[in-house]
Amino acid sequence: MPIQIGAKTHNFSDPTGLLSDCHRRIEMFLSSLESVAAVMDRPAEVETRRGLETALRYFSQAAPKHTADEEDSLFPRLRQNRSAEVESLFSQLDRLEDEHRWADPLHADVELLGARYLLTGSLSATEVERFRSAVASLTALYKRHIILEDTVIFPLAARLLTKSEKMEIAEEMARRRSVAPAPQIDL
Ligand SMILES: [Fe+2]
Ligand SMILES: [Fe+2]
Repeated sequence: MPIQIGAKTHNFSDPTGLLSDCHRRIEMFLSSLESVAAVMDRPAEVETRRGLETALRYFSQAAPKHTADEEDSLFPRLRQNRSAEVESLFSQLDRLEDEHRWADPLHADVELLGARYLLTGSLSATEVERFRSAVASLTALYKRHIILEDTVIFPLAARLLTKSEKMEIAEEMARRRSVAPAPQIDL
């Protein structure tokens, strides 16, 4: 069965398409967290618990693979491309990596408080505020981050990277998810 990372499915010949699919999934689970945050001052209902569990699992297990796809597979190959066009974006790539680090403590807050809510069924007013604030900060951070990647970095990579570089990236992405790489298999 093909493994799908997101609403739309791209295949191995288009790794930046696969990465954009991941963005749609990040947006979807952030929206789930926002819905949970809105009702967190009340005892958890079954639907809320389910949405929170799924979103927490995504951000703890799948999202770090997306970051690794970018930091370990895509960005290094882009940096090797010595065109003036890419070099003018080096500071943007550094900034994107900084933002991955800035998101970490916010994700840690969401994970800690979300797990506590699932365990005890309620949070203090201070904890609810902290959860809401972390989700709002993540939403704002990802919004500008994803726009830059989707509209500048990924199109540039799709244009400048060679077919074999794209295949190497796709193979590394598949390996992170223990999927057998094959051009026609959706990741
Ligand atoms: Fe990123
Ligand atoms: Fe990304």
